[in-house]
Amino acid sequence: MTTADVVILGGGPGGYAAAIRSAQLGRSVVLIDEAAVGGTCLHRGCIPTKALLHAAEVADSARTAAQFGITASFDGVDVTKLHGFKNTVVSRLHKGLAGLIAALGITVINGRGRLTGPTTVDVDGTTVTGAAIVLATGSAPKVPGIIETSDRVLTSDQALELDRIPSSAIILGGGVIGVEFASLWTSLGAKVTIVEALPRLVPNEDPAISAYLERLFRRRKITAKTGAMVTAVRSDDESVQVTLESGDVLTADVLLVAVGRGPRTTDLGLTEVGVELAGGFVVTDDKLRTSVPTVYAIGDIVTGPQLAHRAFQQGLFVAEQIAGRNPETVPELGIPRVTYCDPEIASVGLTEDAAREQYGEGVETVTYDLAGNGRSQILKASGAVKLVVDPAGTVVGVHMVGAGVSELIGEAQLLYNLDVKAAEAARFVHAHPTQNEALGEALMAVSGAPLHLHG
Ligand code: NAI
Repeated sequence: MTTADVVILGGGPGGYAAAIRSAQLGRSVVLIDEAAVGGTCLHRGCIPTKALLHAAEVADSARTAAQFGITASFDGVDVTKLHGFKNTVVSRLHKGLAGLIAALGITVINGRGRLTGPTTVDVDGTTVTGAAIVLATGSAPKVPGIIETSDRVLTSDQALELDRIPSSAIILGGGVIGVEFASLWTSLGAKVTIVEALPRLVPNEDPAISAYLERLFRRRKITAKTGAMVTAVRSDDESVQVTLESGDVLTADVLLVAVGRGPRTTDLGLTEVGVELAGGFVVTDDKLRTSVPTVYAIGDIVTGPQLAHRAFQQGLFVAEQIAGRNPETVPELGIPRVTYCDPEIASVGLTEDAAREQYGEGVETVTYDLAGNGRSQILKASGAVKLVVDPAGTVVGVHMVGAGVSELIGEAQLLYNLDVKAAEAARFVHAHPTQNEALGEALMAVSGAPLHLHG
């Protein structure tokens, strides 16, 4: 099929969500991707990294088993089996996704697409025409100009496929990818140093969360050099050498470059057809329409948090809009953020500073340390839940750090997105003993009626 109601360029979370919902709404759909459907998330991002991070957790459980009275030992990593586990998870999910797409009658064209007009895409010499076109080409790792990738200088794409556990690693960038790989490689036996240009790790999170993370990473012997700039990178057969502005030279087995991801919008014919770009990102209105009325853009090529679940939401949104419905989106601040390092980080809404800027000094916060939570004690999980409420007592930010807190984000995102008052939510009973109680305790404390909070 070379003509369809909806033609989608890119089969990642944004593109395939748009394809699935369009098909469900009775539209004919062509989905174009030069690689396998599933995109970065399924093949080089969320899923494989979280599979490896789960294996890392198993390694740590073996290492710390004696603390729980269990006799076990960590004897090493079978890298082939480790990748086998990760690849099995990916291939099962890929098979399921491909089956779903086929069952819905979506035509998948495997090839490189390029916009040639407001309703046409060229795929390796064939013209595909769509009444509406959705751009969903995603992002790729950014590599600063002074750095050249090699066997030892990796982006997350190569790091995921590395056929050995590095003995030591320098990680450039203490953002989401940086701290997840730092956690992973440390658990698997590497000595890790993070170099972050800004003054703290995970600088997009509330500063209290960065402080907990840095403390817990220090406990794990992960070195963090914050406020540090790299001036040169060299690598040879033996090692990689990273020179910092301070003059210090760090040496390691590998360097991971994790300084952000850039939109994949070059060589797609976009500007030629009149699709406006700004800093490489596609400019859209609040309905994700580009400057060409028949062309929409979703996911990592649109400025905002580069998260798979944001792309899903945007894909569903444009599909419903194209089908003549009137969909709504969750505002970007209401999109939950989860980082799967150990300790995990999960947050939604405003940081304390951003809330003060927006609501003034009447903003209140409470930080409930997981030390007071029974389930966290059992799990030996250190960390905290920090709540931010506006002067009317409405929850405007939830920030959590600690093993297991990723699973608490469901309640947190409802509190934020439904504008719930802390006192109202504090009335609800949180099951005991769960880590979820920590959120309940924080709600009670910020409403002036704490139960287990030490003064
Ligand atoms: P990021 O934007 O989260 O972090 C990049 C970090 O590198 C920043 O802290 C920045 O200050 C630092 N940096 C930039 N240039 C530098 C330099 N020259 N020297 C030292 N530090 C420098 O980007 P990251 O970690 O690469 O991740 C890319 C995207 O992928 C993010 O948007 C992230 O949200 C997404 N992602 C999400 C995950 C999740 O939701 N669990 C997991 C992995 C990635």
